Amino acid sequence: MNTYPHEYESSLQQPESFWLKQAQQLHWFSEPKQGLQRNENGTADWFVDGELNMAFCALDYHVDNGRGEQTALIYDSPVTQTKQTYSYRELREQVAHFAGLLKKHHVKKGDRVVIYMPMIPQAAIAMLACARLGAVHSVVFGGFAPHELAVRIDDARPKVVITASCGVEVDKVIPYKPYVDEAIRLASAPPQRVIVWQREICEAELQTPRDVDWQKALAEVTPAECAVVKATDPLYILYTSGTTGKPKGVVRDTGGYAVALRYSMATVYGVEPGQVMFTASDVGWVVGHSYIVYGPLLTGATTILYEGKPVRTPDGGAFWRVCEEYGVNVLFSAPTAFRAIKKEDPEARFLQLYSLTKLERIYMAGERLDPPTLEWTREMTGKPVYDHWWQTESGWPICANPVGITEYPIKPGSSTLPVPGYDIRILAYDGTELEANQQGAVAIKLPLPPGCLTTIWGDDARFNAGYLREFPGYYSSGDGGYKDDDGYVFIMGRTDDVINVAGHRLSTGEMEEILAMDPAVAECAVIGVADELKGQVPVGLVIVKDGVTITSQVLSQRLVQRVRDEIGAVACLRQVHVVPRLPKTRSGKILRRLLRQLADGDSQVTIPSTIDDPGCVDELREQLSR
Ligand code: COA
Ligand code: AMP
Repeated sequence: MNTYPHEYESSLQQPESFWLKQAQQLHWFSEPKQGLQRNENGTADWFVDGELNMAFCALDYHVDNGRGEQTALIYDSPVTQTKQTYSYRELREQVAHFAGLLKKHHVKKGDRVVIYMPMIPQAAIAMLACARLGAVHSVVFGGFAPHELAVRIDDARPKVVITASCGVEVDKVIPYKPYVDEAIRLASAPPQRVIVWQREICEAELQTPRDVDWQKALAEVTPAECAVVKATDPLYILYTSGTTGKPKGVVRDTGGYAVALRYSMATVYGVEPGQVMFTASDVGWVVGHSYIVYGPLLTGATTILYEGKPVRTPDGGAFWRVCEEYGVNVLFSAPTAFRAIKKEDPEARFLQLYSLTKLERIYMAGERLDPPTLEWTREMTGKPVYDHWWQTESGWPICANPVGITEYPIKPGSSTLPVPGYDIRILAYDGTELEANQQGAVAIKLPLPPGCLTTIWGDDARFNAGYLREFPGYYSSGDGGYKDDDGYVFIMGRTDDVINVAGHRLSTGEMEEILAMDPAVAECAVIGVADELKGQVPVGLVIVKDGVTITSQVLSQRLVQRVRDEIGAVACLRQVHVVPRLPKTRSGKILRRLLRQLADGDSQVTIPSTIDDPGCVDELREQLSR
């Protein structure tokens, strides 16, 4: 039966009753009677009178209801040759104990805790322990450099930082603890404590009394109980790239998020309690928060925490091995991961070594799913492959194929239909609504459904300016796209200075700020250019100051290193061109679109009539093609 149209309509027409009904899927300490309440930001608070605890819903509830011995989490680490499973009971015990340790160090409801960890189970345990206490976690992706960590520490002002002695990237051991030490040195609001999980592969040096050895300290603590938190209390802050160097701390509430995740697990992913979900991402990204940790556990499913890559750990069969070994039902990763597999194993020979009988569906998000990657994955695996679109801000899918209620035909290039709760409109830049097949700004009519960001941490003004002011009455997504005659949504790319590199969201504005700090640089631009594997990679263009004698090669290397040191290896800025001029409008604005077209080798470049100096175009084309 085609139930999606009805469900979608009722989610928009009667949002309160629709979501209150979904809320019944969870265990509340105090069940909400009120759905939605407008707040001073012009957005909505969900379930204001509800009380719950996220870790209770994710763990204790299942232990109390017969799932204690079921596997909750599987840790698979090809980089350290480790495999471990945790039942719901074991995970609850470890979380409660670690929460006891946090409590001993005076962490309480509302305190912030920064988590800077590799993909080990202790990352999830740390998150869930914070949730158990009602503390607000902020996970920082391990690929970020100390400076980025310091910026986040200063913004979130955590009482405690939790880290591990090291991460392992394929065959490189990356010591995390020295990065934390350096970040704390740079930070103006250092934490009182650093709790360190020591990995055998590389033990960290601890500084007493600030640093605490996780394993040793646990012996002396008693487990902590779940705190009662309001649905509107923040569960976490997750920093994401905006258009400037200052990352935005997306604030996620507890109740709305829990309800949205539980709903999405059934509606979007079709995952039932007891099934196995393998989300190959990182807990440092929103995908990891929602579908490695909270979504599967809220559902009573089994989640896989994978410390490896799609390739090189040890080969392009890595994902397929995990799928066979643990009977994975749903696999989710970024298109770039499948492009990497396709590049290493175009004929999918490794795939033939494994049985994917249990695998029902493959999901991709984080960047546009290009039709060739969709086709290849579908053809090689024989499984349906779904594109779905969402953002750190939304916390869960905005557009998807709602397979749990009605499965729609797939159209390559489209993330299918708006998920119930999201009223998606395509707007012209003056705010008028566009018709089918016309491309414009993708906006969501307010109110946003449960689960979406409630504000930017400590900065309501930035939240309003960044998302709500452009189109009054709408949330502005920052993405451009269109809807076709059947209402399918096609997301075509960002309309701001945010780029997507290997499924990681980065700010070109931030990279420009770093390049501009170099004493030799007079002016610069960073653009995202198309890359076969990573989707996009950043490329820098700089003009040197008059009188500077440094060679282009030396300057270029210095700038690449500067960005790596400041942002981290994940920035992937590998090319900086020293150019004599940059194309600008007569009013002095750099023509970035033109630069992108030139760098992509686009033969159909249209030179804007507003250009100040048309002569620079051929010169740049030649230089960028080298
Ligand atoms: N800790 C420390 N360093 C990290 C890191 C982490 N958690 N993650 C990445 N890095 C480093 C890498 O080692 C690499 O360093 P290098 O320049 O010294 O080699 C750099 O950051 C770039 O990493 P990455 O972009 O991951 O490139 P890669 O070549 O190692 O791998 C892919 C390419 C496509 C295989 C990989 O990006 C991938 O699997 N992506 C999946 C996408 C994903 O998880 N997206 C999240 C949203 S769904
Ligand atoms: P992040 O906040 O890191 O999840 O990145 C969100 C951004 O990634 C979105 O604003 C889009 O630009 C892009 N994105 C994510 N998923 C998709 C998708 N399925 N199709 C197109 N773009 C996507």
